Amino acid sequence: MLKILSFLSALLISFSVAAQENKLPTPRTEGGMPLMQAVAARKTTRKFASRAIDPQTLSEILWTAWGITHDGKHSIPTSQNKQNLKVYVLQADGIWLYNPEKNSLKNISRKDVRSILNTQEFVKKAPLHLVFVGSDKKNSPMHAGSAYQNVGLYCASKGLNNVVRGYFDHAALGKELNLQEPEEVIVTQAIGWSK
Ligand SMILES: Cc1cc2nc3c(=O)[nH]c(=O)nc-3n(C[C@H](O)[C@H](O)[C@H](O)COP(=O)(O)O)c2cc1C
Repeated sequence: MLKILSFLSALLISFSVAAQENKLPTPRTEGGMPLMQAVAARKTTRKFASRAIDPQTLSEILWTAWGITHDGKHSIPTSQNKQNLKVYVLQADGIWLYNPEKNSLKNISRKDVRSILNTQEFVKKAPLHLVFVGSDKKNSPMHAGSAYQNVGLYCASKGLNNVVRGYFDHAALGKELNLQEPEEVIVTQAIGWSK
């Protein structure tokens, strides 16, 4: 009886842990706007409809930011091939960490912490924020820059609005993400549909 009970509780625990990692739809990696048009169309637009970003679009945003594209490596170059960027997603349903190998989002917290980013009025409506995290003072900002530029180009192609943002309390957000030294929040990117 004891054995059955411990087996059942182990099963329950593994189910609840598994429930916290959500598989994303397979990103469509073909098509979109021709590159030169996307470069010309990329821009900051500080206006968002509050409509949520659908899972397919979210998967493609994350793939352009930090997806696996070649030889087990990512969509952006990294110094000394360290492959050491982390991309978090902040939505109304909490904090999620992108796992590019599994194409999934792992839940970090159910808390909606987007208010930390509300240092500018327009941001309050953005349904989605990416948070770029790194642990290398010199190179992580460059990695984040490559990733947000890829996302900016995807947004231009898809008709999404986006703003890269550095104006907020980085330490407060890092605390909510449970970052450990020397990891730190580099920059965020607010994304949403236009009106
Ligand atoms: C690292 C970085 C941080 C930024 N932080 C903010 C910010 O906190 N708030 C904001 O409204 N725009 C922010 N921006 C957006 C810039 O203001 C914007 O890119 C610039 O005005 C040029 O406009 P464009 O992106 O349309 O070319 C940031 C951009 C970068 C690259």
